[in-house]
Parts: sequence; C-alpha cells; structure tokens
Amino acid sequence: MVLSTLKTYHIIILLKSSHQEKQQWQFLFIVMIFCILGYLITFVLFIYKLLDIIPILTGLVFFVGSLFIFMSVNIYHSTLGNIIKKKEKHQLEKKELEKHLAEFKHSQSQLIHHEKMISLGQMVAGVAHEINNPISFIHGNIEHLDNHIHILLFLLQLYQQEYPHVTPEIKKIISENEIEFVQGDLPKLFSSMKSGTERIREIVQLLRTFSRIDESEVKQVDIHAGIDSTLMILQHRLQARPKYQKIRILKKYGNFPKIECYAGQLNQVFMNILCNAIDALEEKNNHLSYQEIIDHPNIITITTNVNKNQQLEVSISDNGSGIPPSIQKHIFEPFYTTKPIGKGTGLGLSISYEIIRKHHGTIDFISTPEKGTEFIIQIPIHQ
Ligand SMILES: Nc1ncnc2c1ncn2[C@@H]1O[C@H](COP(=O)(O)OP(=O)(O)O)[C@@H](O)[C@H]1O
Ligand SMILES: [Mg+2]
Repeated sequence: MVLSTLKTYHIIILLKSSHQEKQQWQFLFIVMIFCILGYLITFVLFIYKLLDIIPILTGLVFFVGSLFIFMSVNIYHSTLGNIIKKKEKHQLEKKELEKHLAEFKHSQSQLIHHEKMISLGQMVAGVAHEINNPISFIHGNIEHLDNHIHILLFLLQLYQQEYPHVTPEIKKIISENEIEFVQGDLPKLFSSMKSGTERIREIVQLLRTFSRIDESEVKQVDIHAGIDSTLMILQHRLQARPKYQKIRILKKYGNFPKIECYAGQLNQVFMNILCNAIDALEEKNNHLSYQEIIDHPNIITITTNVNKNQQLEVSISDNGSGIPPSIQKHIFEPFYTTKPIGKGTGLGLSISYEIIRKHHGTIDFISTPEKGTEFIIQIPIHQ
C-alpha cells in the first residue's frame, strides 16, 4: 500500500498542473493516505487491546479499500486510454509532418529548377536580342550590296564588250586576279551569305520562342513552334559526334490551331522528355557495335494531334534502352534517377508531371526494355 502511494505521488508530480487527470490522481492519493491511516489506527488499537472498535474500523478500511480499487481501476483506464489516443494522434501528426516535409522539399527543388530555367530563358532571350539587331542590318545590307555588285559586274561586262582592247596594265590585273572567276563566283557568295544570315535569323526566332520561360500567363501558342525551338536548342545532341550516332527526328505534326497554355513551361516539358529520349538512345548505343547501330538507326518520333475530346495529344517516342518494369513506378518521383551523378538530377519527370497537372492534363508512358519508350501528354486545348 505504501509503495502504491509513493508511486501515485510520483505520477502526480509527473502530471502537469493543466493535465485533466491530475485531480483524480490527487483524490486517489488522499484515499490511499486514509487507507494507510486506517491500517495504522487498527494496528495501534490492536497493541492497546481496544478490540471493540476494531471491527468497525476494519469495515471502514475495507470500504475505503474497495473505493480505492474501484477508483484506481477507473483512473488507470482513463489515463491509459488518453495515452493511447495521444500516441495515435502524435503518430498521425508525425506522418502529416513527414508529408509536409516531402512536399516542401519537392517544391523547393522545383523552385530551384524553375529559377534555373528562368535564368536560362533570360540568357537565351538576351543572346537572341543582341544577335537580332546586327544580323538584321547585315541581312538587309546584303540585299543592297548584292544589287550594287550586280550593277558593277554588268558595267564591267559592258566595258569588256565596248572596249575589248585594254591597256597592258589592266590586262595584267585581269589575269592576276582571275576576274572571270570572280565574276562567276560573286553571285554564289552572296546567295550563300544570304542563306547563312537567314538561318541565323531563324535560330534567333527559335531562341525567342524557347525563351518564353518567364511568361506567367496562359497564351495562345503554336505548339509546333515550341517543339521546333526545343529541338533546335538540342541540335548539338542530335547530330553525329565522335562516339555518338546521329539521331533522326521524325515529325508527324497534326493540323490544328493554336493551343492555350503556359508556353515556356510546356517547352520545358518537351525539353525534359526529349533529353531523356536522347539519354536512352545513347545508353542503348553503348551496348551495341557500330554495325548494329547502323542497322538500327536512332529515331525519335514526335506526333501531335487534337483528339475528339478537344485534348491536345503529344507523343514523343524513342527506340532507346526502355524503362525496366521494376523502376517504372518510380520515374515520376522527385530525385529518382538511374543516371550517374552529375548527369541525372531525377527532377525532369517530376517537374514535367507538375506542369502537366497545372494544365489539367495527364502524362503517361509505355515502355518495353530494349525496344523503347513512348511518353504521351494530353492537355485540354482551352485552359
Ligand atoms: N525515354 C526514357 N527511356 C528510358 N528511361 C527513361 C526515359 N525517360 C525517363 N527514364 C527513366 O526515368 C528516370 C527519371 O527521369 P528524370 O526525372 O528525367 O530524371 P533524370 O533524367 O535526371 O534521371 C531516369 O533516370 C530514367 O531511368
Ligand atoms: Mg531527365
């Protein structure tokens, strides 16, 4: 009894004053003290041989004892119940906290990636702007220069016809500088220069289309221009290089009007999926001989159309290494990558998933190891 009383005293000290069960425990403690007092009095009466009162006192002690047992069972029951409830609540809160932490980490990584894409977009837009002005006047001036040179060449021809007998000094210059060759070559030079500047202007335009990354509102966009600009940015990875085979791009573009979307963000999705396709092709080539690669050329097929549910469908498929079934359920998880450190971040697909979700669309894939992978994006044409 004394031990139980001491334990109860400890429990009371442990319970904070705000604790709802503290009073019940204090009451139990008082009952215990009464019990102990009862025992002591009975003991004293027994020593002094005052045996008449002992039955009454014993009855009282038994009554208080029963009250004590009843109360203690009740209090233990409610305290235990509360502890179990609190533990469950705590576990739920822990799970919730872990979920928030994972979400926080994800959005933080997205923010970093988004920031990177914004600075890339700004850099690309800056470069495009800087190149645009000089190339525009070079392109414009080439036209005039071409006209002027035509006139001069015509005049030279006329001189040669009208004055066939020239002075020895002019004859010498004509033979030394192969004027006939120059006359024939100049127009060709101009036309190749013109096509060169036209190509630069095209590239600048594509860079501008790609760098819509910081546009924050939904706009009517030519999806094909977005895909083409992304392909242009990736051009260096598509061409044949030492140890890498050329990758053929097969475009099967549908015929449909502009689509409402966040243009820059959708370009980012195309970029992520195309980069993965290129990585998968390179990975597959690593295990093939030169002849095998020649026999099975690398192909990325891009198909677009608008289906009967007014959804834009973009499919990007590669005949690369494919995704093993065991990892297929993980590929959209943030930070999941099978690529070596420095090459993969594991963020491409999780970010693409978020972007497509923001467009109220879906992103799925079908993959067969060693055969290839197809990613299918569907988004409504009106947001
Ligand atoms: N076209 C593909 N072919 C094969 N595997 C792919 C393809 N696309 C994605 N994957 C797999 O999904 C993983 C996650 O892709 P992603 O989120 O873009 O991250 P990362 O490219 O940085 O690894 C890749 O590491 C790769 O294993
Ligand atoms: Mg990737």
